[in-house]
Amino acid sequence: MNIILLGPPGSGKGTQAELLYQKYGLTHISPGELGRRGGDELAKKMLTYMRKGELAPSMLVMKLVQKNLGEHNLFDGFPRSLDQAEELDQNVVIDLVLELGLSDPEVIKRLSSRLECMKCKASYGPAHKPKKAGVCDLCGGELVKRKDDTPELIRKRLETYHDETEPLLEYYRPRNLVYTVNGNNTVKEVFKEIVRAVEARS
Ligand code: AP5
Ligand code: MG
Repeated sequence: MNIILLGPPGSGKGTQAELLYQKYGLTHISPGELGRRGGDELAKKMLTYMRKGELAPSMLVMKLVQKNLGEHNLFDGFPRSLDQAEELDQNVVIDLVLELGLSDPEVIKRLSSRLECMKCKASYGPAHKPKKAGVCDLCGGELVKRKDDTPELIRKRLETYHDETEPLLEYYRPRNLVYTVNGNNTVKEVFKEIVRAVEARS
């Protein structure tokens, strides 16, 4: 099975991807996460675009994705443009596109208060506070603000989402692949709805 998580920055793609990974063991592919981990030259190049809130060139992103493809994949924040979606179709059959819907003001609110673990990248916010302030529950790592969670870059990322990524919903809709989930609900409720959609397709 191949699933795409599509939604604006802060809509909960990473949060839900972690839960889906735990339940179904799909290979989690997030170019943004790979860039932040900075493992190889490709990832390091990617980071130069991420620091500006711009999409990295598709050639670069495709190489990163190809390197990490498994048999069953969960794409988080990929594809993000029409050329990436077309290229992905050459490589795998997509079973489901889960749209996490969230309004712009809610995105800004969430990302302005998000903290991330420096070590394991777990994400925290008002709806998911760490037991001890500034310390990751999972690994004890330090919690910091993500470098692209500044007001200017949040605005830029949202603009890029509306211009380049949101139109992909119309690319997938004729194949009846799109399932929209209300990202405003609690993490638990969103996950429950996602699981329902996944089980209906399996
Ligand atoms: P990427 O890392 O993918 O970031 P993004 O799309 O901007 O999304 P985020 O990771 O910020 O948010 P999320 O949806 O994962 O939400 P999260 O679960 O953290 O991409 C970063 C950059 O990399 C891009 O700008 C671009 O430069 C580059 N890039 C990436 N992919 C690319 C591609 N394909 N092509 C080219 N360039 C690419 O949750 C956010 C917060 O909300 C957290 O605090 C969380 O605890 C909280 N939260 C989550 N769910 C809920 C809920 N239901 N209720 C309340 N709070 C919640
Ligand atoms: Mg994410």
